Order: sequence, then structure tokens, then C-alpha cells
Amino acid sequence: MSFRILGTGSVVPDRSLSNNDLAGMVDTSDEWIVSRTGISSRRISSGETMTDLCVKSSLLALENAEVSPDELDLIICATICGDYITPSQASLIQSEIGATCPAFDVNAACSGFIYALDTASAYLSSGKASKILVVAYDSLSKFVDWTDRNTCVLFGDGGGAVVLDKGDDLLGINLTSEGNAEILNIPCHNESPFGSETVTRQFLQMNGQEVFKFAVSRIVTEMKKLIQNCKVSADEIDYVLLHQANIRIINAARQRLGMPEGKFMSNLARYGNTSAGSIPVLLDELNRNGTLRKGQILALIAFGGGLTTGACLLRWDPAK
Ligand code: ACO
Repeated sequence: MSFRILGTGSVVPDRSLSNNDLAGMVDTSDEWIVSRTGISSRRISSGETMTDLCVKSSLLALENAEVSPDELDLIICATICGDYITPSQASLIQSEIGATCPAFDVNAACSGFIYALDTASAYLSSGKASKILVVAYDSLSKFVDWTDRNTCVLFGDGGGAVVLDKGDDLLGINLTSEGNAEILNIPCHNESPFGSETVTRQFLQMNGQEVFKFAVSRIVTEMKKLIQNCKVSADEIDYVLLHQANIRIINAARQRLGMPEGKFMSNLARYGNTSAGSIPVLLDELNRNGTLRKGQILALIAFGGGLTTGACLLRWDPAK
């Protein structure tokens, strides 16, 4: 017993920020950003809270799944950008959509959606829950230094949600973590009134080249593990949904795996890297535009802060 995805939903903020807009803010160009990352524009929250956007995504997923909020047994939100440290983002979603079930957040950065799916799978397998809402949303624009061209061109805000039921569509899932704040971190407000050490910079900090190497090698390793553990061949996988961070990461991993380009789905050009939100937004787009067909096999692989990875193979069999 694992789960079945009944329905999906996603929402990105209305405000678009193009590469040319960024070129007016820092020393960069559309040509540099497109050739190094594959990103053309991204969406930035302005006037909407994370809660507003998570609630809209959740209601779309519930409608798509034909499930009402009072049927939910659990809400899990994967995020590192919640509106508050407490209450959790999941608790705010719970009250806004009119659910009464327990709710909590998961922090695994860009791998958060897969971590949340794994947690949900354990609840469903143990019989502690029958219907679970998993939301994955990030608004990294809050933590990006908009004067740093090395990082600000990469990120955008967005995310989505899925409604899960008991089922057998999760074929395999694997999580990894190796604690490392050196190459990717967002510092806390650690200003203790009793300590002398203060952190004055709260922006996202990243060694891009190290993250790039980590991402490519781990995508390849995780895909091979999925293929071996689930006893499927690469040919049997219909679509691969990688965390949308950089088109060069996606292409490098695909070439090392020797898989066809047409299997690797991407919406990176429009949204940039939306952290935990990237795979659910892509999944929802493919669901709603009719790309996905009942019975197809999808590989979802994410990597990010922690450093973490999350990878799963699932059969597509939604409610409609
Ligand atoms: N515009 C113009 N020039 C730039 C910009 C920019 N926006 N950013 C950097 N440069 C310059 C650098 O200053 C450097 O100049 P120099 O040679 O004079 O020193 C030059 O471009 C090359 O910089 P590199 O860092 O070597 O560029 P690279 O090809 O490695 O690309 C990038 C940088 C895009 C960040 C790449 O390393 C990358 O994508 N890494 C992975 C990042 C990632 O995936 N992060 C998120 C994962 S985790 C999460 O999602 C939270």
C-alpha cells in the first residue's frame, strides 16, 4: 500500500519579472541568463501572501480530486518560506480551506515535495490516514538578495498541491540527506540578546558550481536506484520531472543517463527555480494540458538545500 494521486492544483503569482527587467536591476543580460540557465522570466509575489497562494493551489487540487476539505485526514506543507515560523504554513492552509485535520510543515528545501510524499505514504500505509493534502510552495523572492546577480536571476515564487488517497501507484521512493551548510544556505535571524555572535545577512547564499555538480551526479545516481529497486527499465519511464533549477543541469543529467530529450519535461523558462514548488507546478501543468495518460510511469527527482535529494517513481492514475 502506498498512495494514489487523485488530483493536482497549482498557482503562481501574477507578477512576472523578465530577464530584461532584471538587467535593469543588476549587471546581467537576457542572453547570459538564457544561455547559462534556460530561464526567461519568473513570477514574484506582490500583494499575495504564501497562505493566499497555497490556499488557491489546495482548492484547485481538491476540486480536481473531487474531495472536500472535511474528508482530509492530514495536511502536509513542504516549504522553507512560510508566512510565520509558527503557526506552520500547513495549519494556516487547514483553517483557510475549512479542514479540521492535523497539519504540519516539512523542511527539505527543493526536495520538500518528495519528502512530503514519503511522509504521506507512511501515514496511508499504516492506516493512520485515508486522504492527505500535500502542498509544496516556496517564495524564495523573500530571501534572495536582489542586488546579487549570481543568485537573483535563478529564483521565482510558485508551487502546487496534490490530494492523495490509499493506493498502489507509488512504485518506489528514496530520500537522502547530507548536512552541509557550506554550499547552500539561508541564515536565520540568530540575534540572541545574550550572545555576541550575530548573523547580519539573511539572504540565500550559494556556491553555484558546487550545487551544479551535486545536482547532476545525484540525479543520475537516484534515477539508477529507482530503475534498479523498482525493476523497471529506463524505456518504461514515460516522463521525467526533475527539479527545475537550470536547463544545463537537466540536459547534463539526461545525457549521462542516455535517455531521450522528449521524456524530460520543463517549464523552467517561464518560472525559474521555485524550490519545493517546482515539481508540483510542472505535474499540475502536465495533468491539466492532457500530456499525462492513465497508466504512464513518471520519475520525479529533486535536489536542494540540506543537502537533500528525493526521488520517486509513480504510476499516473488520477480521479478524472
Ligand atoms: N549575469 C552576468 N554574469 C554573471 C551572472 C549574471 N547573472 N552571474 C554570474 N556571472 C558571471 C560571474 O561573475 C563570472 O564572471 P567572471 O568569470 O568574470 O568571474 C561568470 O559569469 C561565470 O560565472 P559562473 O559562476 O562560473 O557561471 P556558471 O556557468 O557556473 O553558472 C550558475 C552559474 C547559473 C549559478 C550555475 O552554476 C548553476 O546553475 N548552478 C546551480 C544552481 C542551482 O541549481 N541552485 C539551486 C539549487 S537548490 C535550490 O533550489 C534552493
